[in-house]
Amino acid sequence: MIRAYRAELLSVGQDPRDAPDAVRHEPDGLLVIEDGIVIARGPYADLADQYAGIEVETLPGLVVPGFVDAHVHYPQTDRIASHGEQLLDWLDRHIFPAEKAFVDKAYADGVAAFFLDELLRNGTTSALVYPTVHEQSVDALFEAALERRMRIVSGKVLMDLGPEGLKDTVASGRAETEALIRRWHGHGRLGYAITPRFVLASSDAQLADAGALLAEHPEVLMHTHLAENVRECAAVEERFSDAVDYLDAYDRFGLVTPRSVFAHGIHLSDRACGRLHESGAGIAICPSSNLFLGSGFFNFGKADAHKVRLGLGTDIGAGTSFSMLYTAGLAYQAALAREDKLDPFRALYLATAGSAALLHIADKVGALEPGQEADFVVLDCAATPLLARRTLEADLAERLFAMQILGDDRVVARTYVLGQCAWQRTSS
Ligand code: GUN
Ligand code: ZN
Repeated sequence: MIRAYRAELLSVGQDPRDAPDAVRHEPDGLLVIEDGIVIARGPYADLADQYAGIEVETLPGLVVPGFVDAHVHYPQTDRIASHGEQLLDWLDRHIFPAEKAFVDKAYADGVAAFFLDELLRNGTTSALVYPTVHEQSVDALFEAALERRMRIVSGKVLMDLGPEGLKDTVASGRAETEALIRRWHGHGRLGYAITPRFVLASSDAQLADAGALLAEHPEVLMHTHLAENVRECAAVEERFSDAVDYLDAYDRFGLVTPRSVFAHGIHLSDRACGRLHESGAGIAICPSSNLFLGSGFFNFGKADAHKVRLGLGTDIGAGTSFSMLYTAGLAYQAALAREDKLDPFRALYLATAGSAALLHIADKVGALEPGQEADFVVLDCAATPLLARRTLEADLAERLFAMQILGDDRVVARTYVLGQCAWQRTSS
């Protein structure tokens, strides 16, 4: 079936730092979709005749690609806004106790459903997601994602050094990972990521086995945390005293590859940034989380000097908002704190095609180009009285920036998955 939507269209399919013409904007555009795939896009005036027989729906706002959250934890949904601690104490006090509950499949089903609906409400249609150590927590998420037709990548957390009730073994971690890859990878829009929690939560034997699994399964990703928090980095330095830096602790186990996605990367040396670039691995920047846990500010200048591949993540529940727009606004503020600048188009790139590239799905989503899956969001830049006033005479860059700084789920008027409306704000 063919559908056509008329609207203002905007996408940033490549990093504007590398490609000055990366911004694609049609003030009055037409998006033509067949069976969930974009088959044409361009100025309405250019395409209207060609698609004259097709009914056209006009969308009320600025259409951008569905957001891609490159790092988020679904089991932490109910622990957002847990007060008082930096990373290691926050994990012990708030997060590990909450994650133990995901041994119960029915409980996991309930949280997964809420979590994915919340992503859609915020315009996020694809994500790289942490579940828990429990195999059934992965099933719960993938089943719920399949129902919603969302593009979700996830994988059972490996953590044989975790607390009681939240740890596996090298053997059970491997067996469950292999079973889950067979069960889910490539099923519908789902993908698998081998997911050691972080270097401190696994024994050397399990890290080595994660590297072996990654080598045995060239079709899947690797997802973990890297150099997030000062005390965490000190603990890594103590345990891996012969590693040159935190990244090297992963590298010696074969975990630094083009398919590796590392969350945070706040405390990285020039050597580590160079090695990330050389390996093709990428960083999911998580500014909301980094502020909430007092971890620091991402160093855009250093990462860009080494051309490190970048995307953006909310990192719920250390992150405090599901909104990738709001998270993009915080990325701007984090950049400024280190005297770097993040322009709103590059921020949109990070939240869409940049994250999609990290997840190896940039051929499918992130830019609303013909041939891609038709996941998109309708943004209302007048969603609040303040936004309406601030954007009244604003140009495109100012409107986009205002939505990143002042906006959140309130500006998402509608979210489309594979060309079909999956969420609609009641007031639009
Ligand atoms: N490092 C290891 N586990 C976690 C987690 O759950 N959240 C964050 N932000 N960092 C981590
Ligand atoms: Zn995280």
